[in-house]
Amino acid sequence: MPTAHRNYFNQLAPTWSVNPEEDEWILAHLKAFGIVPDDRVLDVGCGTGRLAPLLRCLTGHGGLVVGTDFAEHMLRRARRAGNACDHVCSDACCLAYKSASFDKVICFSTFPHILSPIVALREIHRVLRPGGRLLILHTCCSRQLNEFHAQLNGVVAQDHLPRAQELEKLLRRISFNVVKINENPKEYRVEARKPGESAG
Ligand SMILES: C[S@@+](CC[C@H](N)C(=O)[O-])C[C@H]1O[C@@H](n2cnc3c(N)ncnc32)[C@H](O)[C@@H]1O
Repeated sequence: MPTAHRNYFNQLAPTWSVNPEEDEWILAHLKAFGIVPDDRVLDVGCGTGRLAPLLRCLTGHGGLVVGTDFAEHMLRRARRAGNACDHVCSDACCLAYKSASFDKVICFSTFPHILSPIVALREIHRVLRPGGRLLILHTCCSRQLNEFHAQLNGVVAQDHLPRAQELEKLLRRISFNVVKINENPKEYRVEARKPGESAG
């Protein structure tokens, strides 16, 4: 486990704040991603669980919403918020779930911090059911985000989000079908599907 990164996010947990004005934008993206009632959804790098109520609103109570993060202090806040979701401590590179457990996986504002992205993408591929889908989402483009990280002193200064077209190539190498990519100053969205018989 990348201890320096985990410590970094753990020490940020007590003061981690999110902008509630982004919720509407995020919800629109989750809807466009096609989350439907009864879906089993995994939020990788869930932090303090900001997506949980939005995901629960779309899956209904028949679905399963799981948030996972390696920073246990972030998870503690997520659990305290409730939202009828499970919050489980695990590294994106070694997910604590059986193969084909989820219909959808979301990775919101987290991908550049995962130090072994290929390993993590293979893990995500494994836990998705055939036909299941992955959404990697950010509120700005890779250039802006990489510049933002570079001016933060500390372990995240080198964290790098590849351009959406580069990520597309990476996903193809891991046998994902890339469904949609969109990158502009206000959004970074890459959507991919694990090949298989059932649509979703
Ligand atoms: C920038 S925060 C975003 C948190 C949340 N998605 C949000 O929007 O508030 C990135 C999160 O990813 C988690 N993270 C980074 N690398 C991880 C890894 N390899 N495995 C699990 N979680 C990871 C961090 O602990 C942190 O909570």
